[in-house]
Amino acid sequence: MRFQPASPALRSYLSHLTTHIHHTRPSSRIPFHLSVSATRTTTQLPSHRHFTSTTAKMSGTFFDAVKSRRTIYQLSDESVIPDSKIKEIVEQAVLHVPSSFNSQSTRVLVVLGDEHKKLWNEIVKPAVKAVAPAEAWPSSEQRLSGFAAGYGTVLFYEDPADVHALQQKFALYADKFPQWSEHTNAMHQYAVWTALEVEGFGANLQHYNPLIDEKIAATWNIPQVWSLKGQLVFGKPAGKAGEKSFKPLEERVFIHGAKN
Ligand SMILES: Cc1cc2nc3c(=O)[nH]c(=O)nc-3n(C[C@H](O)[C@H](O)[C@H](O)COP(=O)(O)O)c2cc1C
Repeated sequence: MRFQPASPALRSYLSHLTTHIHHTRPSSRIPFHLSVSATRTTTQLPSHRHFTSTTAKMSGTFFDAVKSRRTIYQLSDESVIPDSKIKEIVEQAVLHVPSSFNSQSTRVLVVLGDEHKKLWNEIVKPAVKAVAPAEAWPSSEQRLSGFAAGYGTVLFYEDPADVHALQQKFALYADKFPQWSEHTNAMHQYAVWTALEVEGFGANLQHYNPLIDEKIAATWNIPQVWSLKGQLVFGKPAGKAGEKSFKPLEERVFIHGAKN
């Protein structure tokens, strides 16, 4: 079944993301990138915003979503959209996010509601407790309870079979494919993170792999060989994003040959 994107704002964001990836030529990129602004000073950004303007320029809409994505740790277990829309967001990302040689090596597991709580309370907590120094456990447990308090987790995997197939087929790049597999996985993480926050969720990205991989595979019937890369925890925002400072753009972006 093919789904329609969840809202006009998300539809616009996803369609721009796809259009930009497939059709932007290098020569047209400069004005697009120059439209991003950042300050030298430490700035408190809003934890999330809703986007309803359909008249804004596409790049404006896209960067509204980019700027709006933040790390939100205080989450409640309410959902802000139907589960079918969460599924749709993940499916759209998996369909349209690029991968090297179109390998499509990323796999995604989504756990919601009680299954999400099972992940954090029954799998991650015991796994961390088994390796944490006794004196560190109380604060670790508190942090993990914060993740359990959310509504869902998106778990991002790479299937090594796809990476090995590319290594066989294109021996010249054999040593590069594992790195490019990490790149595409990160792109999927970013697309889903941003899309969930456009819809009004808060989210944060965690890395308890590989400590938890085996138990998760056994619990949700995931192939043991898939490699877990990250866990995106999300829920209704119950707090704001922290302060974020920006290094000067002058030290980070260099453009030569710009004409206007
Ligand atoms: C590749 C990557 C790995 C990250 N790993 C973690 C993590 O393990 N735990 C965590 O709490 N946040 C993690 N973060 C979140 C960053 O700390 C956060 O994105 C950064 O401080 C900027 O804040 P913002 O997300 O609010 O823009 C990670 C972010 C990225 C991009």
